[in-house]
Amino acid sequence: MKPGSALMKHYLQFKDFRAEEYAYLFERTREIKKRFKNYEKYQPLVDRTLAMIFEKASTRTRVSFEAGMYQMGGSVVHLTTGDSQLGRAEPVADSARVISRMVDIVMIRTFEQSMIEDFAANSRVPVINGLTNDYHPCQILADIFTFIEQRGAIQGKTVAWVGDGNNMANTWLQAAEVLGFKVHVSTPSGYEVNPTVAGISSSDCYRVFKDPLEACRGAHLVTTDVWTSMGYEAENAARVKAFANWCVDERLMAVARSDAMFMHCLPAHRGEEVAASVIDGPQSVVWDEAENRMHAQKALMEYLLLGRIG
Ligand code: CP
Ligand code: NVA
Repeated sequence: MKPGSALMKHYLQFKDFRAEEYAYLFERTREIKKRFKNYEKYQPLVDRTLAMIFEKASTRTRVSFEAGMYQMGGSVVHLTTGDSQLGRAEPVADSARVISRMVDIVMIRTFEQSMIEDFAANSRVPVINGLTNDYHPCQILADIFTFIEQRGAIQGKTVAWVGDGNNMANTWLQAAEVLGFKVHVSTPSGYEVNPTVAGISSSDCYRVFKDPLEACRGAHLVTTDVWTSMGYEAENAARVKAFANWCVDERLMAVARSDAMFMHCLPAHRGEEVAASVIDGPQSVVWDEAENRMHAQKALMEYLLLGRIG
């Protein structure tokens, strides 16, 4: 796809793609992962460059995008707020105009969703959301691939969300609406999901439970996240108190389906949002989930840069 093409797409939130685009992406992820596991070279992105802009910390997102781009034959430029003019108040639009004349695709991790939207509106190349305060679509892309890989279709299934009504929760709700499954949400009061911020068109895709145990009952997948997300550190003491009963432990896993999986986007805090016996136990798929970030994002970059293959 040529820079500035009318067909160019960004991936700023989960609902930017339709269900049939996800079906295609999950197939490509499976194929790309298979080639990687067989040590088969697959380099469709030779001479392509990915710029990664990080205004928040990262381990998985950085390594998965960077390793993934090199494996596909391309190269990577890594920028942070502190070592670029972004930290010295150069307008986002100007940064987008310049960076997108030099690279082929951009991944951004930042605070406000509006920053990434502003960047995309002024970019000649595709922009990917690598996490904002509101959404984390690349993570849910990998999580749903992991579900399908291990259990088959997610349509009609139930996902239990235990904890903060944060960027991960919002993205699960969008995914449920796009792909046709249900989310059982349990958050402490004051930390509920906001359907407007979540960007869903109706409340059909989720159900709210006061008691996290009830949210987990009969679930096919139980998932959670840190009590305090990046950018909210000042609220940590209040959150530690408020979230004390929102810990995924063996009692919660016991009421989910016997074949229920446990997922966590990581990094995790054992003894806070999840018990060590759960995250390190037999139902946990967190390491596959983390690895699948790379395979899914390789498929995503291939799709955004080359369109459908074959
Ligand atoms: N899950 C996730 O995005 O991890 P990082 O913050 O390490 O990138
Ligand atoms: N909700 C967490 C996810 C980290 C990958 C955060 O935003 O910090």
